[in-house]
Amino acid sequence: MIILGIESSCDETAAAVVETGRTVRSNAISSQIDLHAEYGGVVPEIASRAHVERILPVIETALTDANCSLTDIHAIAVGNRPGLIGSLLVGVAAAKSLAWSLAKPVIGVNHIEAHLYAALLDDQDWTPETVFPALGLVVSGGHTAIYRVDSPLHMTRLGSTIDDAIGEAYDKAASILGLGYPGGPIVDQRAQRGDASSHTLPISRLKPGSLDFSYSGLKTALLYTVRGIPTASDEPGGKPVFGQKAEDLSETEIDDLCASFQKAAIDAVVLKMKRAIEAFGVTPRSILVGGGVSANSLLRSRITALGDELSIPVRVPKMAYCLDNAAMIAGLAHERAAANSFDDLTLGARPTGSR
Ligand code: KG4
Ligand code: ZN
Repeated sequence: MIILGIESSCDETAAAVVETGRTVRSNAISSQIDLHAEYGGVVPEIASRAHVERILPVIETALTDANCSLTDIHAIAVGNRPGLIGSLLVGVAAAKSLAWSLAKPVIGVNHIEAHLYAALLDDQDWTPETVFPALGLVVSGGHTAIYRVDSPLHMTRLGSTIDDAIGEAYDKAASILGLGYPGGPIVDQRAQRGDASSHTLPISRLKPGSLDFSYSGLKTALLYTVRGIPTASDEPGGKPVFGQKAEDLSETEIDDLCASFQKAAIDAVVLKMKRAIEAFGVTPRSILVGGGVSANSLLRSRITALGDELSIPVRVPKMAYCLDNAAMIAGLAHERAAANSFDDLTLGARPTGSR
């Protein structure tokens, strides 16, 4: 079974060809980072327009890289929820057009569930018995949540962020420090050169036992550390006035702040994962991690260490499958195809995770 996957939920236009849900034959991604960088975040309207221009060339690249043609494809999968609606619609329309013209089935896939499936790609040997029930952690620009995962298609959310997503916090931290967009990879790199004990930034714990996350306090604490406590403006309704600027920081101070921010951000994840394991009832057979922030060096090492300590195998995606990609969409769709569960040409897009 060879599936063509399409992903366009945010700012990456992606297509991939995956065989039997396990072997990634191609994984083409056209990133729009250059288009959104000057705005410091994804501009939905710009993203949709870029998807329209890029989707067919990206699909062609995926087919060429996989050395196959559309006639070799058995089904077309598309990430149809959750995401930016204008962006999702481009991928869904492309997938349905292809499915209709080729008389092949279409499968709509949940982007978050696909992020967790990414940790299983390229592994020929996993079995449901060795992986599930798993504890799932999705850490991305739009989502931060913990799941009980009973199978690739059956998961229950145990907790999630009550304000910012962790990736969003990284992006805002980079913006506060004047480091550009997207912030995650830059803050991660600079943190590796810095001293994490230089500043004590708050680790969000929430109520005892809570499996939810909160990142807005950490972001504000970093802002005040960098720019000082603001005073009220003299102008009625004016913006608060800060006494310091990010430009005044030395390179070493920026490295130290990145390291302190990263420590607090990841400490909170590890804390919630420990609580989740305690609350899980049985020992999970594995920990599955996915989403853009699963590329983070400290997160990868701390979660792996946690798994080692508790003798729970940890599966983090290969770097190529951490950020938004279509291999994870085609991979998860294989589970649907194997269960003979397909969608039809009424398939829609949803901004939320519901079907
Ligand atoms: O999964 P993804 O591509 O998109 C969403 O579904 O949201 O994740 C993008 C997020 C961005 O916020 C980016 O800053 C973050 O992942 N990210 C990282 C790293 N690489 C990407 N965050 C921390 N450390 C990294 N190395
Ligand atoms: Zn994503």
